[in-house]
Amino acid sequence: QPTKMGKHKLKKRHASGERTVENILKPLDLGDDDYRKVMDLMHAELVKGLTPATHEAADIKCYPTYVRSVPDGSENGDFLALDLGGTNFRVLLINLNGQEVKMESKIFIIPQHIMLGSGIQLFDHIADCIFKFMTDHKLTDRKLPLGFTFSFPCRQEGLDRAILTTWTKGFKCAGVEGNDIVQLLHEAIVRRGDMKNVKCLAVINDTVGALMSCAHSDRKCAIGLILGTGTNACYIENLDDVKTWDGDTDEPHEVLINSEWGAFGNGGALDFVLTDFDRSIDKHSINPGKQIYEKMISGMFLGEIARLAIERLRKNNLLFEGEGSYHLSTRGRFYTKYVSEIEGDDVDNFTVTKQIFEELELVTHNEQDYRLVRHVCSLVSRRAAYLASAGIACLLNKMQRKEVTIGVDGSLYRFHPFFHDLMMEKTRALTDAQISFKMMLSHDGSGKGAALVAAVANRLLEEKKE
Ligand code: GLC
Repeated sequence: QPTKMGKHKLKKRHASGERTVENILKPLDLGDDDYRKVMDLMHAELVKGLTPATHEAADIKCYPTYVRSVPDGSENGDFLALDLGGTNFRVLLINLNGQEVKMESKIFIIPQHIMLGSGIQLFDHIADCIFKFMTDHKLTDRKLPLGFTFSFPCRQEGLDRAILTTWTKGFKCAGVEGNDIVQLLHEAIVRRGDMKNVKCLAVINDTVGALMSCAHSDRKCAIGLILGTGTNACYIENLDDVKTWDGDTDEPHEVLINSEWGAFGNGGALDFVLTDFDRSIDKHSINPGKQIYEKMISGMFLGEIARLAIERLRKNNLLFEGEGSYHLSTRGRFYTKYVSEIEGDDVDNFTVTKQIFEELELVTHNEQDYRLVRHVCSLVSRRAAYLASAGIACLLNKMQRKEVTIGVDGSLYRFHPFFHDLMMEKTRALTDAQISFKMMLSHDGSGKGAALVAAVANRLLEEKKE
């Protein structure tokens, strides 16, 4: 029996709407006006990033990549590639031969203590992995150009000079921010002393890899998009609009821009759409106040947004008869893959959903719970897909090309059952009518893209020598 005080409280809560499903979930359901406002704000940030006087203050840095053209199919030879910054660290051997691409790769684990350790440890580990790969593939005697896909924000000063500005996602290695990662890699190689033949010729972002690898077969590809652990996009920009450009201005009069849009909102621009769940995630992250847009969209966070919403419902007795579990109340324990699996589940029997609930050791659950949790998941992923669509529509409208292919990669896009469809629908609604676009899955963009860019860099080097 509630006390007088309790009753009073309960009433007040009802009045503020705290206790109904609808009111708890409403903040996750944004309207087209919100998405259009996101687009306008993003456009302003992109321009700020491309302008020297405002670049410092811009959330979206729009780093010029020094990649000036998409592949022309003449790239040939064997290349080594590194891929750091997604779910796994990989070393790859890639053979390019016209349209044909062959590759072999090996995944190496980067243990948590290295992700949060020192830069020296990280690059020593990377050098060890390269050595192991080369030994296994009998490559130690060969001189192979190396391309490095390093998927973190870097201010580039050339194809082979990339200064890490700030770690994102789960990484925080001391002594790397502010330094050139190519130099750090070469120093680690020198410390080993047994890989004199390995030279890194190019650093690219994974978005650039996605764009380059798709452009290899589709010349209309002009945007690279990642929806994985993190989110980011790159696009082809006219040099006249890149006021921060200090390189040469030969034809084509364009350069790929790594937007680093994940940082959008760091200055408060997205406060008008943030929910309590978003604020809580940010507060407890290893980089509070940073990567706000990314934290609303990418795979590293979606599961946690859903978990917080589910917990809020549960605490209000609107799920599982109010009964939670240790797992459900543990941060990070409701994986983004659950969101994909639950949404992909068969609504006639909820087999997968039940299994997930069992994994989480939830005791009481019934069909109503399955439906409501599925609804929460779909709200969270729909908001993510629409926010990303607003970003893509903003780029498409800015570029004003008639036909654009968007090269997309990342675990979220790959494994979520409806992400692609949601994005197609909302991007269409937000993009100028005369522009047509399609989204193409990039296969192994990080490896292939790094090899393609290294190939161009290598050719330029050879030409210089002659
Ligand atoms: C983060 C990184 C960015 C990368 C993206 C996707 O946002 O800062 O460089 O492209 O994740 O991996």
